[in-house]
Amino acid sequence: MSSKLLDHPAPVIDLEAASSVARQVFGLEGSLEALVAERDCNFALRAPDGQRYVLKFSHVDEDPGVLDLQNQALLHLQRHAPGVPAPRLVPTVEGQPTHLYQMPGGGQCRVRLVTWLKGRIYNAVSHSPALRRSLGAMTARLDAGLRGFAHGHGVQNLKWRMEQAGEALDLLPYLAVKQQRALAEKVLLDFRDRLAPELAALRGQIIHNDASDCNVLVAEDDPDRVCGIIDFGDMTHSALINGLAVACAYAMLDCADPLEAAAQVVGGYHAVTPVQEQELALLPDLIATRLAVSVCISSWRHSRHPDNDYILISQAPAWAVLKLLDQLPRGFAHFHLRRACALEPVPGAEAVVDWLAAHQGRFASVLDCDLPMARKQVLDLEAGRADLPVGTEAICAAIDQHMREQDLEVLVGRYLEDRAVYTTAAFVSEFNPAERRTVHIGMDLFQSAGSGIHAPLDGVVVGCKDNAGDKDYGPTIILRHEVDDGRLCFYTLYGHLSRDSVQGLEAGRPVHRGERFAAMGEPHENGNWPPHVHFQVMTDLLGESDTFAGVAEAGKIETWRSIVPDPNLILNIPEEAFSDTPAPIDELLERRRRLLGASLSLSYARPLNIVRGRGCYLYDAGGRAYIDAYNNVAHVGHCHPRVAAAIAEQAARLNTNTRYLHDTILRYAERLAGLFPDPLSVCFFVCTGSEANELALRLARTATGRRGVLVLEGAYHGHTSLLVDVSSYKFDGPGGAGRRDFVGMLPAPDLYRGLYRDPQSAGAQYAAHMDVALDDLRAAGFEPAAFIAESMPSAGGVYPLPGGFLEAAYGKARVAGALCIADEVQVGFGRLGTHLWGFEEQGVVPDIVTLGKPIGNGHPLAAVITTPAIATAFANGMEYFNTFGGNPVSCAAGMAVLDVLEEEDLMARARTTGDWLKERLEAVCDGHPHIGDVRGKGLFRGLDVVADIGSREPSAQRAGALVEHLCHAGILAGTDGVHHNVVKFRPPMVFGKTEGERLIAALATGLENLAG
Ligand SMILES: Cc1ncc(COP(=O)(O)O)c(C=O)c1O
Repeated sequence: MSSKLLDHPAPVIDLEAASSVARQVFGLEGSLEALVAERDCNFALRAPDGQRYVLKFSHVDEDPGVLDLQNQALLHLQRHAPGVPAPRLVPTVEGQPTHLYQMPGGGQCRVRLVTWLKGRIYNAVSHSPALRRSLGAMTARLDAGLRGFAHGHGVQNLKWRMEQAGEALDLLPYLAVKQQRALAEKVLLDFRDRLAPELAALRGQIIHNDASDCNVLVAEDDPDRVCGIIDFGDMTHSALINGLAVACAYAMLDCADPLEAAAQVVGGYHAVTPVQEQELALLPDLIATRLAVSVCISSWRHSRHPDNDYILISQAPAWAVLKLLDQLPRGFAHFHLRRACALEPVPGAEAVVDWLAAHQGRFASVLDCDLPMARKQVLDLEAGRADLPVGTEAICAAIDQHMREQDLEVLVGRYLEDRAVYTTAAFVSEFNPAERRTVHIGMDLFQSAGSGIHAPLDGVVVGCKDNAGDKDYGPTIILRHEVDDGRLCFYTLYGHLSRDSVQGLEAGRPVHRGERFAAMGEPHENGNWPPHVHFQVMTDLLGESDTFAGVAEAGKIETWRSIVPDPNLILNIPEEAFSDTPAPIDELLERRRRLLGASLSLSYARPLNIVRGRGCYLYDAGGRAYIDAYNNVAHVGHCHPRVAAAIAEQAARLNTNTRYLHDTILRYAERLAGLFPDPLSVCFFVCTGSEANELALRLARTATGRRGVLVLEGAYHGHTSLLVDVSSYKFDGPGGAGRRDFVGMLPAPDLYRGLYRDPQSAGAQYAAHMDVALDDLRAAGFEPAAFIAESMPSAGGVYPLPGGFLEAAYGKARVAGALCIADEVQVGFGRLGTHLWGFEEQGVVPDIVTLGKPIGNGHPLAAVITTPAIATAFANGMEYFNTFGGNPVSCAAGMAVLDVLEEEDLMARARTTGDWLKERLEAVCDGHPHIGDVRGKGLFRGLDVVADIGSREPSAQRAGALVEHLCHAGILAGTDGVHHNVVKFRPPMVFGKTEGERLIAALATGLENLAG
């Protein structure tokens, strides 16, 4: 298609006259050949030296200023951008750019000579993406070459000048087909009313304005490279972007995917000269404008040359592109061209994604159940992998059966999954009829029909409709969400709903976070799909309000991703759910049995394969989140970033041992010791709680010169030989060898189950028992070196010590010459909420304190804190060396834990949450026939499960069933106590009320089962 108007007929010159002009005016001999041209009369001239030229004869009435504009432009390029492959102007023998020629038959015309550019015309070759990029790059280089060029005739009156496109409205009557006329009118009116004023604000310069498919040359030896541009006849001053619009318009013709073609041209241009965002915003409509002008002008020309149907032949591809641009989802072309320039496709989409990411985990669940915690599986619908039966009914039955067999609450369909299921005509691409929309851009959540759909955050209904039709959405609702004080806005879509979900619902109706505003539909109403909701997030509605594409073409997916970001930012399904290869539990079990020794126990009937932790959540390999209400080691929260970073940093710098001076170990020791009352001020660092207790006993024995140890019944202090000997939980338990003679044992001061049931008389009773224990020891020939007790026994049954117990016990022990050891391995570091250390509650100051579990938030660190006197006595000549204890990495971990404890005020949190939890636990257990006692402090709580309240007979079986039930519901707890009947809760200190509510809800159903 030509871009020229036949305002003046071309002069008629024969070969002979032309060759004499070449000789006389330009001093060139050679062979000439007439060229086909529309406005000028052109000849190809080959000089004897092989050089080739084009001799151009123009109508004398052609504005000399316009010819001069072209000449000067070519000269400018020659001088300032010699690399731009434009023809060079050859002056006359008199040094003039143009010659006024008296034609032999009378009349005049103007003659110019330019060099011939080698290459094949663009429209005669096939177009690769690389060639289109090269076209864009060439256009940019040409524009850059003309940047500083000015000319009095720059703003020439030209119908092809984009700024004058509104004038083409006058040519509409020449368009014969009504729909085409309407389309061109729409485009041109939009240009006149909306684009033209905006165009005026953009950067402008003189541009070539005609990089059409017949003016662009492709290298003969490289089909991917544009090697020249000719025909400067439409040059004009214009907005810079218009030159690119023209290049795109022609490059889009006759393409399978015109938008992609334009994107390639734009990408090539942008790589040379960045296209501005305002320019890109207008570009798709400028392309349409150019094509509309083109069809108007060619129809008008055809009216003047009705016999020349050739003029109209080239209109068909232009109409095709115009139609396509009109039908594309609104804004998509703009977004796609932005992407071609490496900009975020939807302006502001990244800010929405960032906001969603920053709030991930804080949205209400879209389903009735909590999605991260739900028992779920990803349904593989990927083309070539999905193994589904044929027919909706059969698929529904298969899904149903699978969910039942696997005990699943939800099946999940992936975002960005390329699927084979989109078979109907509705899934043909709008961009390219040969392509299908197959990539799923929402997420599917399968449950039974009628399951509730809840708003993840406050929103307003934008639109709702029954998008009826086989494999369509059925009833659909779109919500609009404004967040960040109205600075950001996005949309969520819910498809395949029940019909009553949309009945009576109107645009503008507010929907509140957590509100159940819809339900999943049956296949007969939801587009013939198994019951599920298609959930999707959109940063732009592309002009829609009550429906929106749910699948997209693979070729444009990067643009789509900006329009429809990952819905999981809201749904928050743990990433592990999407892993292709979750480790099969049975295989892990088998290997573990083979490799790790059978004495190592594993929790829960269906053991968990935990692969990640955060805060008080643990995630299994299948992507299920569990609330960790059990692991006090991750004191400040699993994988606390502060602690992880401290460990990583120090590990990358230095990790040695205590044989060298190191500031961190001293700073940590100072800080830790500073948390204890005087005279506790000397730290020994070790790696485990067992090591700490072992060392504590050594300290006591060395300092006292005695060997006897006084312990509490049911206590557990560690796994070494000595500690098993002093832990009745072990020596009196299965596989235990009974109490050794150097151990004196006091009855468990457990007010519910132990000997001392009455707090009033307990004092006198345990004083008497201390005497018995001492007598036992002495009878066996031992004097007591130490009395060791947890400040709140854990393994013994999670019970707080009666008031004054430690004071009395310590008093007696000390009178007998023993040192007092407080085992704070479980309850230290503020777990009880009111004091950092459990012994403080009892108003005592031990001689030795042992710390473990929470001290390093999971890093193997433990410590013994004692008095200078004991430490000195221990230095009896035997060296104390611990390869790992107190290494810089461990100390960095310990320090970070203290930082977080302080900064997040976790002890206070343990108190508030703990008090609240106590009330809720008491309420839910109140009157239950199998919960004998609810006890504990802060975030250390136990439920004593009994066979019957009256007899207080412990029921390990019921406690175990309760713990299993909780685990099934996604809450991790455990049992403890000498009878294994105490359900124990000791979550990371970041455990909050949200988690607490879930625990209570799960407990309530568990207790119901237990009672029933
Ligand atoms: C009270 C108490 N002390 C000591 C230990 C031993 O600690 P570790 O397992 O780190 O050796 C434990 C472990 O459970 C414990 O509960």
